[in-house]
Amino acid sequence: MIHLLIESRLRAALTLRLPDAAASAAALRPCPDPKFGDYQNTAMMSLAKERKMNPRQLATEVAAGLDLSPWCEPVEIAGPGFLNFRLKPDAVAAALRGPLAGEPLFFAKAAKPRSVVIDFSSPNVAKPMHIGHIRSTALGDCLARVMRLLGHRVVTDNHIGDWGTQFGLLTVGWKTDLDANALARDPLSEMERLYKQVNAASENDPSIRETARQELVKLQSGDPENLAIWKRMIDLSQAQFDRVYGRLRVSFDHTLGESFYNSRLKQVVQELRDRGIARESQGAICVFSDGTSPPKEDPFLVQRDEEWAPNPLLIQKADGAANYATTDLATLAYRWETWRPDEVIYVTDGRQQLHFRQLFAVWKRWQPERAEGMKLEHVWFGSILGDDGKPFKTRSGETVRLFEVLDEAEERAFQVVSEKNPELAEPDRREIAKRVGIGAVKYADLSPNRQSDYVFSWEKMLSLQGNTAPYLQYAHARIQSIFRKSGDARASGSELVALRHADELSLAKHLLRFGITLEAVAAEYRPNYLCLYLYELAGHFARFYESCPVLKAEAADRPGRLLLCEMTGRVLKQGLEVLGIEAPDQM
Ligand code: ARG
Repeated sequence: MIHLLIESRLRAALTLRLPDAAASAAALRPCPDPKFGDYQNTAMMSLAKERKMNPRQLATEVAAGLDLSPWCEPVEIAGPGFLNFRLKPDAVAAALRGPLAGEPLFFAKAAKPRSVVIDFSSPNVAKPMHIGHIRSTALGDCLARVMRLLGHRVVTDNHIGDWGTQFGLLTVGWKTDLDANALARDPLSEMERLYKQVNAASENDPSIRETARQELVKLQSGDPENLAIWKRMIDLSQAQFDRVYGRLRVSFDHTLGESFYNSRLKQVVQELRDRGIARESQGAICVFSDGTSPPKEDPFLVQRDEEWAPNPLLIQKADGAANYATTDLATLAYRWETWRPDEVIYVTDGRQQLHFRQLFAVWKRWQPERAEGMKLEHVWFGSILGDDGKPFKTRSGETVRLFEVLDEAEERAFQVVSEKNPELAEPDRREIAKRVGIGAVKYADLSPNRQSDYVFSWEKMLSLQGNTAPYLQYAHARIQSIFRKSGDARASGSELVALRHADELSLAKHLLRFGITLEAVAAEYRPNYLCLYLYELAGHFARFYESCPVLKAEAADRPGRLLLCEMTGRVLKQGLEVLGIEAPDQM
């Protein structure tokens, strides 16, 4: 890949001048404005500052030791010390042909593959999956796909919530009020009804709370009847999860729910106490601040009335029960022992930020040697809002079921496809509508910055204009139709490719930036970079197609133009694929 070649030469030139500079200082990013070049390096300023040097001077000296003549025009030094690189059209044309010779599609496999555990989706048992679950599921799946494409070893693990106090109430409901017909029809709704019912009843009647507590204790101590009920609830829930995952085309290497770690929890608590990391407080066991970080950064402190007050992490309740945090500690130990990952990523909503800050801090204190080589990352996201700017709900104020969203998406997409392409047979339109509908929902979720909230809008996500999945799918399908019309004329790869028109060149250069975009997605856990890249790619293509005839092009231009069409189609397809979205050949 061209940007990697430039980076490696830049690294060499930099090392000659500053032997102690970090390798990452040679990193390139696309130039924000093509006026200045195609790629840019911004590290000279900070390197010079640290060393009290003149940044332009440093940039000039590094540039002097840099020979990039096979690929670039002479390096330009801009502003306070930016290094700007502009590709030569010949080098662009040669790189464009790479994939025809079996090279990866404008990206390179990681030189040092990492093993990465991704914990995502993780719904709770006995509750229907709701719209919010699309976020963790789509984001986590996309990160897994991107990292795999880049050659990393990815383990996906669905940490489902299949244990906890709710099973006391649920068991009471199951034993006293189960509607077998309703359970057969829609098991998740029935379980949800039981839970709500018993929970409400227990509010007025403390004896129900007490019965629930006893049922929970029986379950925890292995009572066969309660275990069987619990198991049945899990199986029914898993079957529903699997149907949703099937429609979303998401799969997991492992589904190790919270209950999987039950047998390890006592020992976690014991070890943390023995090491003096956790201690008793009002009958419970908690981890408090160890005072090693400044209060502002200390997750075990909270500011109240201008004072720093303790904000401990509870790992065992006064009744002796372990909890979510204890389970997550046991889970981390298990993951380390089982996969020795370089990195563990958790994809959940932003409300769990404190939980993960505390979890990561306890892990460091508990397992300092293991913590050393294992990066922990909480990849969090905001909420989905309705038109009114409040969390997205049904008209009657309930959470929106994911299954129903997917049904509606497919139905609405069917209208869109039917309008666009009425001649297509209905079964074909239905098939396409599935991909368009599900793709639209996923893309609406992946394309905004994950940390901001976004408003759920059918009109916007299904629009054939703008930064949407249908727009990209349509761009892809249109390219396929060019090939269908031409009797599948393809560029052979041996022909000379000239990129004479400015729109050809900018499209080609954009194609070459696919890899650097994927790298940024993986490094910052931000699929929206890829969405924006693909949207811009479709824009470049539209401009090119507008100004440059392809099938009617002159003989000298035709191979290059066919190649641009082919590579744009491939990158769109591959890009959508790692977003978890299918690109049909017709729309
Ligand atoms: N089940 C949890 C929830 O619904 C998410 C679990 C996330 N993963 C973890 N290891 N804590 O909020």
